[in-house]
Formats: sequence, structure tokens, C-alpha cells
Amino acid sequence: MRGLSGKRAIVTGGARGIGYATVLRLREEGVRVAVLDRDAEGCAALRAELPDVLALTVDVADADAVEAAFAEVIAALGGLDVVFNNAGISAPGDSLALPAGHWRRTLSVNVDGVFYCARAAARHMKARGGGVILNMASVSGMVAIPDYLAYNTSKAAVIQLSRTMALELAPSVRVNSISPGYVLTPMQEAEYTPEQMKALNTRIPLGRHADPAEIAALVAFLASEEAPFMTGSNIVIDGGETAGGTASL
Ligand SMILES: NC(=O)c1ccc[n+]([C@@H]2O[C@H](COP(=O)([O-])OP(=O)(O)OC[C@H]3O[C@@H](n4cnc5c(N)ncnc54)[C@H](O)[C@@H]3O)[C@@H](O)[C@H]2O)c1
Repeated sequence: MRGLSGKRAIVTGGARGIGYATVLRLREEGVRVAVLDRDAEGCAALRAELPDVLALTVDVADADAVEAAFAEVIAALGGLDVVFNNAGISAPGDSLALPAGHWRRTLSVNVDGVFYCARAAARHMKARGGGVILNMASVSGMVAIPDYLAYNTSKAAVIQLSRTMALELAPSVRVNSISPGYVLTPMQEAEYTPEQMKALNTRIPLGRHADPAEIAALVAFLASEEAPFMTGSNIVIDGGETAGGTASL
């Protein structure tokens, strides 16, 4: 990708799944990468495998911890050009019986966490006159999946947060959200049995889950100078899942 080499990036939730695939892809592009992830063991494993990656154990739902981590990364890397706010959680729960804690934690990580990180990034990027913020949404923020009230709601919020910040930060900082469909990651494997995933695949026009590297490629493109006119967009990458309504199945 044009213009990525030498840039400095933060990936939240980079210890595994889509975040980890993005760390690998950005490094391949010559980007210096820092990871914020609440998983201390995952961060230690990342440091052992990729010593050039600055991996900090941070809960993105903790506003003070996010501020401190951004300051540490900006000092260590000498600035910040790209942030991928990817950390998120998902668990099903019947809406009528949903414990308040489930609702609150999902919104705290998926919305507050994105807001805290995007705000910290935006302050730095606005002051230095440029940067790219990419926020992880989901097709679940666009079409509803039953029993995922908190998750669906949180991802819809990320799409609107991204559009609003894109307007406020233009023209110097670009902000977009990314909405994947089903991606084969530990999150997905924790929630669905292999049989359920097979059944899901029959309802996806491309007939399979995405590989995390395919989402990472989109992140690299949006972060690069190949996408200078892209801001305020919600980019769907779902193998055709949402191209038709239920009646098309
Ligand atoms: N897998 C999918 O099918 C899919 C589809 C659409 C969107 N997404 C979104 O993509 C993102 C990544 O998903 P994934 O499938 O790679 O998940 P994953 O569970 O495999 O990995 C998530 C990573 O985020 C970290 N994390 C979770 N909560 C955190 C917190 N509070 N602070 C810091 N780090 C935290 C975890 O430790 C983990 O390393 C999520 O926002 C998810 O909602 C996933």
C-alpha cells in the first residue's frame, strides 16, 4: 500500500483474531505498531514473538488507562498516524432477561472504549494536522441478529460515532468504520459450534467465513494513501451476507 511505510499505528485488541492479523499486515507494510489489549498473557506472547511491537496491557473501557497508554505510545514511537479501534466483546443474551452488567460491559468496551481511543488519537492527530482513525463496527450494527441486543446496539453506535467524528475532524483526519460479516476468529469459535458455523456458511453468498487477514487488508488500504478520499464511510466486508434481505435466502 502506498504511503504506509514508516507510519506509526495503534491496534487495540491486537493480541489475537482480527487485531493480530492486522498487526502482522501493518508490520509487513513497514508500519511501527503498538498494541493495547487487556489480555496480559496475550501481550506477553506478542512481545516474545514480535519484539518490535510495543504491547501494553490496557482495558480500553478504562478512560484513564487509555489516556496513559496513548501518551506512552506517542512518546515511544515519536507520534501516531493510524489507530485501529478493534477491541470488542460479544455474547448472546435474551433481551428480556439481559443482566444490566452484560449490557453495561458490552457498551463500555465496544462504544466507550472506541470513544476513549478515538478521542485520544484525534487530539494528537488534529494538533499535528493528519491521521487516520478506523473503528471496528459490524454488520450487526446495520441489520439485527436476535439475542444480540447489546452487541447490535453497540456496533450501530460505532458507525454513528465514526460518521460524526469524520465530519468534525475533516479535512485533516480521516475516520471510517469497518463492518465485517462472519470472520473466523477465537471470538467466533467461542460462540458457535463447528456445525453452527457450517450452517451459517450456507447462508453467506461466498459460502464461508472471512479470514482475519482479509479484514486486515482492508484496514491497510484504508490507512494508506490509496484511500485519501475516504472518510465518514462504513465499509462492509461480509461475503455478500447483507446484499439481500431475508427473502433472498
Ligand atoms: N469475528 C467476527 O465474526 C466479527 C465480525 C464483525 C465484527 N467483529 C469485531 O471485530 C473485533 C475483533 O473481533 P475478533 O473476532 O478478532 O475477537 P477476538 O475475541 O478473537 O479478539 C478480540 C481481542 O480484543 C481484546 N479485548 C477484548 N476486550 C478488550 C478490552 N476491554 N480492552 C482491550 N482489549 C480487549 C481481546 O483480549 C482479544 O485479544 C471486535 O470488535 C468484534 O466485535 C468480529
